[in-house]
Amino acid sequence: MSADLDASIRRGLGQKPRSLPSILFYDAEGSRLFEEITRLPEYYLTRAEISILQRATEITGAIQSAGQRNGPSLVFELGAGNGEKAALLLKSFAGNGWRPEFHALDVSALALSALQKRFQSMDLAPAFLHEVSFEQAAQVIGSLRRGPALVLFLGSNIGNFDPVAAESFFHSLSALLSAGDLFLLGYDLKKDPAILLPAYADRAGVTREFNLNMLRHLNREWQANFPLDSFYHHALYHPPSGAMESHLIATRELRIRIERLQMEFTLGAHESIHTESSYKYTIEQMISLAGKAGLLSQASFLDEEKYFCDQLFIKGSRVSL
Ligand code: AVI
Repeated sequence: MSADLDASIRRGLGQKPRSLPSILFYDAEGSRLFEEITRLPEYYLTRAEISILQRATEITGAIQSAGQRNGPSLVFELGAGNGEKAALLLKSFAGNGWRPEFHALDVSALALSALQKRFQSMDLAPAFLHEVSFEQAAQVIGSLRRGPALVLFLGSNIGNFDPVAAESFFHSLSALLSAGDLFLLGYDLKKDPAILLPAYADRAGVTREFNLNMLRHLNREWQANFPLDSFYHHALYHPPSGAMESHLIATRELRIRIERLQMEFTLGAHESIHTESSYKYTIEQMISLAGKAGLLSQASFLDEEKYFCDQLFIKGSRVSL
């Protein structure tokens, strides 16, 4: 809990339409629920990306064609989670005789310890673990730079940034990289809303629980009084922005008090709190966004259904602003 987080909760709930920062999803229970989401039949994203990363020879071939003939010396994964995807890649790198040093960065200690266990059970070289936020990740990458690097940012985590924040993320990342370094980005593609909507409002209600857990988190850590049984989970697709949005909608008028913030307000009946946006992109949109930060597309890998894309970028020698 930080003063910045307190300020963004206060700001989000104090304005209309109301919102809460998505980082609040990820207490221990939220991280567990997210893991459960990744295995849901409707949540195609994780399965699609894993099917892409299993095509090891195509990816290692693209890395070689991009100039890293002997593979990267360093691999960084931002938001590494339980390490399932990186482990797939590193296994195939090992098959090529490549043994890069692997640095896993994540805010969740729980996720990092799962990653460590996975690496042990798969007989992979131990990962260097960094329990850091995205902001602190820059320092870790900057301080370790030596030899050709590959940065991984998978799982459509980029989708939880709005496009302005995504562009500034690309600029910050690009500034840390040297010409010739590579970046593998996993993002969700635009598609029929009939496929998107159930992925964020599954039949078993796990995503609903994940969304409501944010209020449970606030009740516990910020001494708030959100009555969880007085909210609907609502997911919608907004075509102009390309975002899936998650909301918590009050079923009745509620007087909310947040003790730790000394904050009190009335939430009207049917008023919503926006808790998350998950932006979807076309390949062209992503190439153009990353290109503005000097990250140039080298290859795109899609799953069979063309739902998801893992795209390899190279840091060019000049940044076009
Ligand atoms: C972590 N992130 C990429 C997920 C997404 O799809 O935006 C979080 C999530 N929210 C609801 N379901 C999954």
